Amino acid sequence: MYFDHNATTPLDPRVREAMLAWLGPRFGNPSSVHGIGRAAREAVENARQQVAFLIGASPSRVMFTASGTEANNAVVFSCAENRSSGHFVLSAIEHPSVQAAADRLEAAGWAITRVAPDRSGRVEPQRILEAIREDTAVVSLMLANNEIGTIQPVAEVAAGCRQAGVRVFCDAVQAAGKVPVDVESLGVDFLSIGAHKFHGPLGAAALWVRGGIDFAPFMVGGGQERRQRAGTENVPAIVGFGVAAELAATELAERGTRLAALRDAFESGVKRLADVVIHGAESLRLPNTSNLSFPGISAENLMIRLDLQGVAVSTGAACSSGKVESSATLAAIGLSEEEAASSMRLSFGITNQPAEVAQVLRVLEGELARLSVADEGGG
Ligand SMILES: Cc1ncc(COP(=O)(O)O)c(C=O)c1O
Repeated sequence: MYFDHNATTPLDPRVREAMLAWLGPRFGNPSSVHGIGRAAREAVENARQQVAFLIGASPSRVMFTASGTEANNAVVFSCAENRSSGHFVLSAIEHPSVQAAADRLEAAGWAITRVAPDRSGRVEPQRILEAIREDTAVVSLMLANNEIGTIQPVAEVAAGCRQAGVRVFCDAVQAAGKVPVDVESLGVDFLSIGAHKFHGPLGAAALWVRGGIDFAPFMVGGGQERRQRAGTENVPAIVGFGVAAELAATELAERGTRLAALRDAFESGVKRLADVVIHGAESLRLPNTSNLSFPGISAENLMIRLDLQGVAVSTGAACSSGKVESSATLAAIGLSEEEAASSMRLSFGITNQPAEVAQVLRVLEGELARLSVADEGGG
């Protein structure tokens, strides 16, 4: 039973079907001028339209990248290009691909302001706008947080940034395909999304850049992606990304209702089992994400026990490269180390069934009882 869809999602069979042709009989370099190349170009351009439609954008402003991380790095470093110093404002709960890029700028002499969210995980727009200075180059605010799912007031922040003449970037990687994303109503200048969070393939993502905004390419080489992102396009993954985006756009409302029903059934069930604290519940949240603390219980132990029972969840601590680090997001919302260490995330997906929620609650009940006995026995 897989409840870790914010990490990645299984490929939709309809997406796989579309990709298979490009992993077999069809192939080609979209930059080649012969017929085989032109067919690959057509497939990429078709996908660009599908992806652009999902975010209410013009296809000509969408460039494909190999990951959400690459798109996010590209925005930060592009805004810093040709400036030896400046100021960058970001929320304290941005994804590590934005945080680490900010750290690099800081090491190079930039001033960085990290704006903390409230206890529910929402960043107050006024606090971001107050941080803007004369030399602020860009403001970064994600649309939905990957760990607790809180949806951020991006449109309000973007309106204020526009008045101040400051560029604004929105990482919508975790939001796209789960809640409506529209570049115009958000009013941002840059926006990133990634296919593998909504049943598309790994290794395909996109960056949208508003017309008229300067963008300094992060990847240089050939003239691909209108000279904004060099590198031969990953045609099979991009084709899959396009189909996943089209399906997400068509099924968005239905998916949202289904996901929220699973999440709500889980949360009401878990509240009957234990004295849990559900993070972000007072804020607008993604329909699929539940992040909760089990006071006095080690979430890592619980996660391992669930894994042994065939249940995949993730802990409040972000696990990257095999090493478990404490979560910056949970610390930013004011959790103590102990509270963060007792936090677990379940993120539901469209293939989860209500019966799986009932089953995970049964498994959880047994494991929580065993862990409390172990704790009482000093184990
Ligand atoms: C909010 C957010 N931004 C960016 C990323 C990075 O995307 P990718 O895995 O495609 O590099 C993730 C992935 O977890 C994410 O949740």
